[in-house]
Amino acid sequence: MSTEVIKVTINGAEFEVPKGARLIDVCRDKAFDIPSFCYYADLALQASCRMCLVRIEKMPKLQTSCTIICTDGMVVTTQSEEIEKAQRSMLEFLLANHPLDCPVCDRGGECELQEMTFDWGGLEERFTEKKNYHPEKYLSPMVANDPQRCILCKRCTRVCDEWMGEDAIEAGGRGANTVIGTYGGWLDCSQCGNCIEVCPTGTLLDGTYRHQARPWELTQTVSTCTYCSDGCQMSLGSRGGDLMRIVARDRYVNGLNGEFLCIKGRFGHPFVNHEERIRTPLIRYQKGGKLIPATWDDAIQHVAEKLDAVVDKHGRDALGVVGSPRITNEANYLLYKFATELVGTNNYTCTDAHNLKPFFDNLGAPLATHRDIRYAKTILLIGGEPEELQPLTGKQIRQAVRNGGARLIVINSTRIRLTEQAAQFIHIRPGAEDAAVLALASNSNDTLAVQKLGIEINELQSLRQSIAEAQGDLVIMFAGEMSSGAQVALAQLPHALRAEGRRVLLHPLPLFNNSVGAHDMRMMNGAMSATQMLAAAGDSIRAVYMAGSFLNEQLRAHGEALSKLDVLVVQEMFETETTAFADVVLPAASFAEIDGTYTNNDGFVQRVRQSIPPVNQSKSDWMITAQLALELGMDFGFELSASAVFREIAEHVPAYAGLRYPVLKDESSPVQAKYKISESRDLTSELIALRTAVEALPDSGNKLDGTPQVGHELFKIGTLTGKVPQFHLLAAGNPRPETVRISPLYQITVNADRRDALAVAGEV
Ligand code: SF4
Ligand code: SF4
Ligand code: SF4
Ligand code: FES
Repeated sequence: MSTEVIKVTINGAEFEVPKGARLIDVCRDKAFDIPSFCYYADLALQASCRMCLVRIEKMPKLQTSCTIICTDGMVVTTQSEEIEKAQRSMLEFLLANHPLDCPVCDRGGECELQEMTFDWGGLEERFTEKKNYHPEKYLSPMVANDPQRCILCKRCTRVCDEWMGEDAIEAGGRGANTVIGTYGGWLDCSQCGNCIEVCPTGTLLDGTYRHQARPWELTQTVSTCTYCSDGCQMSLGSRGGDLMRIVARDRYVNGLNGEFLCIKGRFGHPFVNHEERIRTPLIRYQKGGKLIPATWDDAIQHVAEKLDAVVDKHGRDALGVVGSPRITNEANYLLYKFATELVGTNNYTCTDAHNLKPFFDNLGAPLATHRDIRYAKTILLIGGEPEELQPLTGKQIRQAVRNGGARLIVINSTRIRLTEQAAQFIHIRPGAEDAAVLALASNSNDTLAVQKLGIEINELQSLRQSIAEAQGDLVIMFAGEMSSGAQVALAQLPHALRAEGRRVLLHPLPLFNNSVGAHDMRMMNGAMSATQMLAAAGDSIRAVYMAGSFLNEQLRAHGEALSKLDVLVVQEMFETETTAFADVVLPAASFAEIDGTYTNNDGFVQRVRQSIPPVNQSKSDWMITAQLALELGMDFGFELSASAVFREIAEHVPAYAGLRYPVLKDESSPVQAKYKISESRDLTSELIALRTAVEALPDSGNKLDGTPQVGHELFKIGTLTGKVPQFHLLAAGNPRPETVRISPLYQITVNADRRDALAVAGEV
């Protein structure tokens, strides 16, 4: 928006506002209430509900303020008898076909239509004709639908199109018979539920939580998502120790994601109160024996004795300490402290598959926030698939292109869905991302780069030209395909690419909710990676103490490793392939039961807040580590306070200096860690090493054809999503039930080949 200021008068008071501002936004900003249904900031205008009417001097009739851009000297009235009469008539019209079933509507108590009707009071209903009737039904395992409550504001169709790029839901029928529906009667989409979130009425509803609680029964706790590295802010609704639902509504939260969540954030929470949660500490007294329930005191004492014995016999470095990109900064920090201060082992690591240390050590520009991405003018995406793995980033990219006119350049071995929005798609060979970085870092390797990438030289030239011509913000994103040498070169690229009128920002795309935090807590600084630790199991590594489990691909690479350990101690929520070999399993609390922080891919340090008491006998990961440290003779002294742990983090991690929980309390103004920006430096030796690595890449190899199916990553069954029956239906191909009027969970029989993926659904 322009920095030029103009004057408008609203209800007799004069205001200075930016030229180009929208009247409805200005009125609300100045605290004049404007009712609306169809207007939704940053979506295409609909202008259909006619609730936002105002009187503008010199204009012949009432105007919809959502369609008016302020002009200098504009004189506006937002409240008058004439305006209220028109608005009441519109509301009466909207209610003409609306059933009066608020007492049985899941949206009752938080419905915008209900609120507005109650606010005005005394609304007369003069329509006596029979109301249109449409039966309730399911549109998918996640989305329930009561069509007769619809007021046709089309927020749902616009978010589906503009945020998700899916266009899966549309208005069908004509006139008074228009209803919102799907193409073919069943939703084959990413099941984000954003259409549910933005629906101002009870037309689209959370099919997984239906009729389970009323909104006023829920205690709302603002927290951070526990799935991907985007770190969406959300509101956890709990009742009596149970996590009932998750939403991102503005009314509770105004964080970096607005009202956006993806399927995992919104629907992936039933693991929290799941019956398979580990109930008590468990000890396996003999290798190959059973895990036997124990008290916390006995289990901690047992672990301490076992670890002491290993260190006495084999030395400190025989004990490996393993953190996780899924647990909080506080938990990773205490594992680091446990490894370095108490045990003195060099062998500590984190189960994340990708180490971001080379990137952060050479960071040449600030991290791009999700807001920066939305307003970027050029976005260069190297590798990855944000629409499946970091869906908020995917949505921001899509909106930057669709609503902001950004130029998107995608370099990928796969024709990912985001290529539909791309101005340029450079289709490279699988595993050749390093060659793309080499080409960007130095133009003396073009012949080699195009040969390894499998592209034409003019594609590279066109990429360079797009960057050279870019004005405004250029955001460079990269995923985990890159080697550490390529990460160094990429991190330094901003020094070469920034120019007059062009800012360059970087945006890593790690996989987990706290991948960045695990890096910041220095858990990746140890002498070996998780895979190397597994390779050394039974040899130089005799015992492992870990929070969370190894990734399946890490275990597959070293199949028998865990059985070779003398001692394996695991803090976990569920039994996993790792706990199957554990000598002691300690029940860990989920994100909904703890206080702490995660750091997202913007570098935002965000609060995780306790919504319910710990389930069963579980404890926060950091508390377990502190208790074990005490048993081993070192009092960390945090007195059961996560904020005390965070205070120590702020004292020891320079990027977090000065941060405290109170500083992080307002999720509408997120706080970014202060990562050190490295000066431009001579990369000659790194580029020679990168060139050598690129030379070793194959000269042939098929590029991956076809666009991956929506949900191929999002619907994957993991330890957490596997506890949600609906995910099993989606993973099995989202079969359409015989009738969509009954919950799909009760009626879908799934193909026998996919039964493994459906174990949980079968129990329902
Ligand atoms: S769930 Fe998401 S993708 Fe599916 S129709 Fe709704 S908004 Fe569109
Ligand atoms: S379903 Fe909800 S969001 Fe969609 S048009 Fe109807 S009322 Fe609006
Ligand atoms: S985009 Fe990522 S952080 Fe946001 S809700 Fe989805 S999984 Fe959670
Ligand atoms: S909000 Fe302006 S017409 Fe609907």
